This record gives sequence, C-alpha cells and structure tokens, in this order.
Amino acid sequence: MKPTDGMYCNKDLLNYLSFGIVLAGLLQLYHHKKTQTSYGRHRKHTPHTSVGKMLLLGTFCLHYFHRTFIYSLLIRGQPYPLNVMMGAVMFTSANGFLQGYYLLHCAQLDEWKTGFCFKIGLLLFYTGMAINTHSDYVLRSLREKGEVIYKVPKGGLFEYVSAPNYFGEIIEWFGYAIATRGLPSLSFFVFTTCFIGPRAFYHHRFYKGKFQNYPKSRKALLPFLL
Ligand SMILES: NC(=O)c1ccc[n+]([C@@H]2O[C@H](COP(=O)([O-])OP(=O)(O)OC[C@H]3O[C@@H](n4cnc5c(N)ncnc54)[C@H](OP(=O)(O)O)[C@@H]3O)[C@@H](O)[C@H]2O)c1
Repeated sequence: MKPTDGMYCNKDLLNYLSFGIVLAGLLQLYHHKKTQTSYGRHRKHTPHTSVGKMLLLGTFCLHYFHRTFIYSLLIRGQPYPLNVMMGAVMFTSANGFLQGYYLLHCAQLDEWKTGFCFKIGLLLFYTGMAINTHSDYVLRSLREKGEVIYKVPKGGLFEYVSAPNYFGEIIEWFGYAIATRGLPSLSFFVFTTCFIGPRAFYHHRFYKGKFQNYPKSRKALLPFLL
C-alpha cells in the first residue's frame, strides 16, 4: 500500500474485487446456458397466489405491524444500542425477504382449506401472539413513563415462567413453521428459540438474584418444565 496524492491504494482489494466480478460473470455465463434471467420477454410467470398463502403472509405481516407500529410506540424500556438495532434491522430484512419469497414463489399450499397442519399451526401462532402481547402489556404496566426500575411481574403466564413474552413468541413461530411446512419458517423458529430462549434464563437468574421473595415455583421459559 503506497500513498499516491495523499490517498492509499489497496491493490489487493482492487484485485480481489475485480476477480470476484469476473467470477460472477463466468457463473452467469454458465447459468445462461440453460435459462435466462426472468425479466422482459423471458419473464417466467409464477403460479397464482392461493388464499392459504395470503393468510400466512397476512399473519406474518400482522406480527411485524404490531411489533413496529404498536409495541415500539408503547414500550417503556431503555433505548436500544445502535449496533443491536442495526443487527435487528439487517436480520429482519433478510428474514422478511426469505419468508415472503418462499411463500409467494415456492410453497405448495393448495389443500389449505382442509389441511390439519395449516389449521393447527395458525391456532398455535395466534395463541402464542396472545400470550406474547399480553405479557408485554404486563411488563409495560410495571413502569411509569420515563421510569427505569425492575419489579416482579405478576398475572397471566408470569405465574408460571419468568419470560412468557419469549415463550409466546417461540410458540408463534413454531405454529407458523407447522402451518407453512417449509425450511425457511423452520429455520426462523430455530433462530428465535436460540436467540430469546437463553435470554429467558438470564432474566430468570436476574430476578432470583434481585428479589429474595421471587416465587420459587416459577420456571424460566417453559411452564412446569424449564
Ligand atoms: N423473534 C425474535 O428473535 C425476537 C428477538 C428479540 C425480541 N423479540 C420480541 O421482542 C419483544 C421485546 O423483547 P425484549 O428482549 O426487549 O424483552 P424484555 O427484556 O422482556 O423487555 C421488554 C420490555 O419490558 C421491560 N421490562 C422487562 N422486565 C421488566 C421488569 N421486571 N420490570 C419493569 N420493566 C421490565 C424492558 O425494559 P428494559 O429494556 O429497560 O429492560 C422492556 O422495555 C418480546 O416480545 C420478544 O418476544 C423477538
């Protein structure tokens, strides 16, 4: 790296990026031996979208509409650090694309009217959403506006676990994975469980350390079990 006109030229970077673009071009050449990129006269028309797919898409959007425009406006928590927020923005954007693409272009859900998995999955999703939103409401009610204190939450599933909001969210995405029966929704369920599951145990440990009278029978995440 030598200075030229006060700037540094990283030749390795130039070479890597240039070769990367040549490689991408060669991959296109190989790909276009059999098919063309789908636009203009070569556009492939995707099959029409069924009612089942629309219901699932609406369900997914409902969750994020609530999380973005209702939950975030009512919350009484501390501000999120920018890096955590940016990580969440990147993940939810990529995940939103993945789930939407799968539903609109890949999922086969023609038997949605009679499908047992579809019905039981949606039932689980909405049960989980009810638990999640109610638990978030209980947490919100513990503070006055502008206050940053922690209290022992009571009522609803808080009588059984320390983090019913996480329990509800995990049920939501478990139900969604059952209803859609696809790898993308299953992977999102696994991600959610791995992300907020352990956090429930940290919350539980925090409560037990901070409050001597914390209910002994209360579990961390799964009622009566864990
Ligand atoms: N799908 C996913 O992967 C994913 C990932 C993360 C979150 N989420 C969802 O996003 C929502 C928020 O998650 P979160 O991690 O922020 O939940 P959280 O840690 O339980 O906190 C929720 C809110 O309640 C406040 N709070 C928590 N315990 C309290 C107590 N004992 N006393 C008073 N206030 C209390 C928090 O304040 P402080 O911020 O000041 O602690 C925060 O404002 C949840 O519904 C969760 O399921 C989903």
